[in-house]
Amino acid sequence: MRRKLVVGNWKMNGNLAALAEVSAIADAHRRAPGVDVAICPPFTLIAPAIARAQGMPIGAQDCHSKECGAYTGNICAPMLREIGARLVIVGHSERRQFHHETNEEVRAKAQAAVAAGLQAIICVGETESEREAGRAVAVVTEQLAGSVPDHAPDGDIVVAYEPIWAIGTGRTATCEDVGEMHAAIRAHLKQRFGEWGALVRILYGGSVRPDNAAELFAVGDVDGALVGGCSLTAAQFVPIIEAASRQ
Ligand code: 13P
Repeated sequence: MRRKLVVGNWKMNGNLAALAEVSAIADAHRRAPGVDVAICPPFTLIAPAIARAQGMPIGAQDCHSKECGAYTGNICAPMLREIGARLVIVGHSERRQFHHETNEEVRAKAQAAVAAGLQAIICVGETESEREAGRAVAVVTEQLAGSVPDHAPDGDIVVAYEPIWAIGTGRTATCEDVGEMHAAIRAHLKQRFGEWGALVRILYGGSVRPDNAAELFAVGDVDGALVGGCSLTAAQFVPIIEAASRQ
C-alpha cells in the first residue's frame, strides 16, 4: 500500500564533482523500480543535480514559509518548484537547533511547500535526555501536533522520525524503539486525519547504513529512510536502496 521511500539529505556537503554520485544513484534507482528515491543536496546543487538525475526527484533541505519578500538569504517554495525541485525537508533537527525553528514555523513551511506543489518531509525527533526521561513519544507527538498542517490531506506529506542522538553518531535506535515510535506516529496521524493518516509514509533517520537498513525496513510502519552521511556516495547509498527494494 505504501511504497518505500529512501531520501538522501546531503546537508552542507557536496560540490559539482560530487554530482557523479547523483548519476550513479539514479542508475541504481532505475534498477529498483519498486522504491521511490530522492536526493536533497544544498540549494546550489539542486539545478545541476536535476540535470543528472534522469527523472529521480531532487529536493531542498529547507524553504521559507512566505512566497516572497524582504528575507535576505532565504529561498521560498515556489522558487524551488520553478527550477524543478519536487520535495523539501522541513523542521530537520539541525534547523530546529541551529536556527531556532519552532513547530509553528515548521508547520508554515510545510504548508508553503505543499501549496507550491512540493512534497514536504516533516522531521520530528527527541533528544537523548528526553528519551532517558521516558518522554520520547510525548515529545514527538507534541512536535507532530504542532508541525503537521491541519489540512495535511490536501498535500503530499511525509513524516521523518529522527532521534537526535542517533544523527551522525553511528548509534541507531533499536528496532523495538523505532517500531514503538512509528506506531505512535501512525496512531496520531490516523486519529487526526482518519483514512488519510494510514497513507502517509513515515521514514526513519539516524545513522542508517548499508548494514542496518534491511532490519529497519522490516519494522512495522517504517516506510523508508532519511539518510545523511551514507547518502553522499553511491557506494553506500545504493545498498540502502536495494535493501528497501527487497522488502
Ligand atoms: P545520518 O544518517 O548521518 O545519521 O543523518 C541523519 C539525518 O539527519 C538525515 O536527515
